[in-house]
Amino acid sequence: MHCIKNVTKDLIWVGANDRRLFVFEGVYSVPDGVSYNSYLLNDEKTVLFDTVDKAVRQRFMENLAFALKGKKLDYIVVQHMEPDHSAVLSDLIALYPKMKVVCNAKTLEFIKQFNDLDIDSKALIVKENDTLNTGKHTLNFIMAPMVHWPEVMVTYDSTDKTLFSADAFGCFGALNGALFSDEVDFNKDYMDEARRYYTNIAGKYGQQVDALLQKSASVEIEMICPLHGFIWRKNIKDIVSKYALWSNYEPEEYGVAIAYASVYGNTENAAEILACKLREKGIKTTMFDVSVTPSSNIVSAAFKWSHLVFASTTYNAEIFVSMEALINDLLAHNFQNRTVAIIENGSWAATAGGLILKKFENCKNIRVIENSVSLKSSLKNEQIPEIDLMADALCNTFEKSAIAVKEENKNATNGSIDTKTMFKLSYGLFVVTAKDGKKDNGCIVNTVSQLTDKPLRISLTVNKANFTHDMITKTKEFNVSVMSESTPFNVFERFGFQSGKNTDKFTDCNYTGRTANGILYLSQYSNGIISAKVSQIVDCGTHTLFIADVTEAFILSDDKSVTYQYYFDHIKPAPKVSKEQKAGFVCKICAYVYEGDVLPDDFICPLCKHGAADFEKIKN
Ligand code: FEO
Repeated sequence: MHCIKNVTKDLIWVGANDRRLFVFEGVYSVPDGVSYNSYLLNDEKTVLFDTVDKAVRQRFMENLAFALKGKKLDYIVVQHMEPDHSAVLSDLIALYPKMKVVCNAKTLEFIKQFNDLDIDSKALIVKENDTLNTGKHTLNFIMAPMVHWPEVMVTYDSTDKTLFSADAFGCFGALNGALFSDEVDFNKDYMDEARRYYTNIAGKYGQQVDALLQKSASVEIEMICPLHGFIWRKNIKDIVSKYALWSNYEPEEYGVAIAYASVYGNTENAAEILACKLREKGIKTTMFDVSVTPSSNIVSAAFKWSHLVFASTTYNAEIFVSMEALINDLLAHNFQNRTVAIIENGSWAATAGGLILKKFENCKNIRVIENSVSLKSSLKNEQIPEIDLMADALCNTFEKSAIAVKEENKNATNGSIDTKTMFKLSYGLFVVTAKDGKKDNGCIVNTVSQLTDKPLRISLTVNKANFTHDMITKTKEFNVSVMSESTPFNVFERFGFQSGKNTDKFTDCNYTGRTANGILYLSQYSNGIISAKVSQIVDCGTHTLFIADVTEAFILSDDKSVTYQYYFDHIKPAPKVSKEQKAGFVCKICAYVYEGDVLPDDFICPLCKHGAADFEKIKN
């Protein structure tokens, strides 16, 4: 019975999953299985991209037959001749004798090496940038030698902007009913396996992978269809950016991965103590027992982490067997560009440390921490300072990661001032009241904040054009009513959009009281009242800064304080600008309209006293 999935209207996944495979390629454990992806393009001509491993041949054949719906297969594009993708090629050639085999010259060689086939007459040889039109779709062939094997090529469908990427961007793990990376939590659940797949399969060939990344950067890609794992149709940059790091041997994680080989636990103990000391210094750590963790996992970790510590006991006057296997594996995968430190152990002749370092001699850009530690059977108290020194030396290399520097440079600014940034400050809104003789007055401000706790002191800034400003300057006393989100717009109009010089702002205002200093406060719409006595006055040009000691304070309600942003979003009505409105600027605070083509920089709103920065151009 078939089990297929639609990728797009005319592209169908006809692959299959294998969860019984013990080791992929005879070496890599795949506890979560693996998928073999094959794709059928159902255009005017039918095109199959690769086949599958022999283990899933039957399912694949059923899938393909169903997806073809009785049509014949016109083309098979052989992007990669490794048998996990080409095991069924000869069956298809027998089944569809007129089918053309689209491949490059190297692939043709490999087809002949793996099969006894009369293939020449069926082959359609393509080279870099050749195209094949299949009706609606145009396929562009891009050579990707050594993105695992030398014959590898990828295919770009410029109609759907889909990249059939062969082994690139693949992942271990069966698909479990999903097909797209956005159907699963890829970063959390699959990125480690994508890294393990990449590093072990193509990690040695970073330069070639980088070349493919460069080529594919020149085309717009909306979907990536790899031969293993999930299809990428969203967040493509997540996986592409990882490939950019991996192919350049750049670490993803700045921290220390400790791999240890320990027969009786003493080397392990030293490694644990080092890890604890690093953590105490705020350095991230991870640990692997090389005798139980598959080498492919540690190779993957070596591509992820910036620093590696190798702790190994000596065995037969050599590096311990599992550690030696790991290091050989790392060398085979082009291990480079990392900082390493060594702990060795040996009860009578410790040699492991020197031998490990010798193995790294020809690796590119390996920084060795000189404070190696050599144990005799077990770590003793007197050697703890040596572990400390190693931890310090490792720590000293973490001052600034290359990624952090790159990020810093990318985010460098040019020193300009965008005054709108001020609106990102979270202001409250307040009615500040004062009393001079019998005259009560108040105005709206957004500039009250607490300065100190002991003494309890606040600051207030008021525009010099406000009458309340003059009253506070004279009397040195004021009240602050902290406005709540329930404050209606008319309260802001009453205290913000008219001048106390020629109006009594408290006429018909039936929600007031007086504090002990005799000044009015708002008993409604405020959630807290603060009375203060001015101790210091600072001239700030257009405004005056009053620093004042709190003389009385009490809470009126648990309502939330209104913020400047809340006022704009929920209280202030949208300015009504008629179609006939002349060119001009509207005050965002009170909707006052200034008519004219140019608003002077020093313009102050006659209603609310806000400056030019609070005006916006009227759009007719
Ligand atoms: Fe899955 Fe290189 O083949």
